[in-house]
Amino acid sequence: MSTKSLRVRVARIERTATGIHSYELVAKDGGSLPPFEPGAHLDVHTPRGHVRQYSLCNDAQETHRYVIAVQLEPQGRGGSIALHDTVHEGDTLLVSAPRNTFPLLHARSYVLVAGGIGITPLLAMARVLQRTGAAYELHYCTRSAERTAFLEELSAPPFAGRVHIHHDGGDPAKGLDVSALLARRQPGARLYCCGPGGLMQAVRAAMRQHGWPAEKTHFESFTAGGVNTALGVEDFEFEITIRSTGAVLNVPKGQTVLSVLRLNGLQVPSDCEAGNCGTCLTRVCDGEPEHRDSFFRSPEQAGTDRMLVCVSRARSRRLVLDL
Ligand code: FES
Repeated sequence: MSTKSLRVRVARIERTATGIHSYELVAKDGGSLPPFEPGAHLDVHTPRGHVRQYSLCNDAQETHRYVIAVQLEPQGRGGSIALHDTVHEGDTLLVSAPRNTFPLLHARSYVLVAGGIGITPLLAMARVLQRTGAAYELHYCTRSAERTAFLEELSAPPFAGRVHIHHDGGDPAKGLDVSALLARRQPGARLYCCGPGGLMQAVRAAMRQHGWPAEKTHFESFTAGGVNTALGVEDFEFEITIRSTGAVLNVPKGQTVLSVLRLNGLQVPSDCEAGNCGTCLTRVCDGEPEHRDSFFRSPEQAGTDRMLVCVSRARSRRLVLDL
């Protein structure tokens, strides 16, 4: 166990919506936990050996507990299934100390846009904004009331009136009008968005349409299995060449190098699949990688001759991988 890891006791598990459980984690000795900021996440080690990232959604003033919420992803890579099926109240879990790649920065006002389980970091932000009297509005997009985590809490004081819940019944056209929302830009406002790809694309398009400066907009995406990756940049399609065979493979938007390799029968060892552990490190013989991991301290430290293929992409049109 690394010095930054801690063993916590699962004090309480609650069903907060269809397919979503919240887990209250406390120190094994009942003492204080390392502090965290709104937007922070934990790496959670599941009993089946996965490492997954989950945002903290309780009040960052609390030192006696961490609360995460996990959406069951039956078609995912197994992390959420392991937590839902094998973790019970009273069990011990290994987690990292909180890490924050999605910090809440100072602004005159805030617009928070959440989709699905992407509510978790934004709920932690709303708590602090509410407590400090900041100007904010939270828009929470879900399919239906049954699938809305924390619905009761968010519909009651002090959140009622600040939190707007939008159900689309599965058709995003019937949900939040993102363009209309972003058209009402206040000077000095910041926008935070966390949710599935479709929502983030809509928010990015509206942001460009209505002239939101990129430095005032902050995105965190999540993928199946609860992995959160802070992303402030768009994906572009590129090619990879496999050095040993000369095969050229296309990496489309929204797909990782690792998944493209797998689909083509090439096995690269992996563990976290979120850019944290370093397991999938692969040598780059030519081209320039775009580092999106949190394993290296900086892109400079990572250099241009290696990359973590579970999350990192390319700046150049083509990368040659030493495989
Ligand atoms: S699998 Fe952990 S960094 Fe890629």
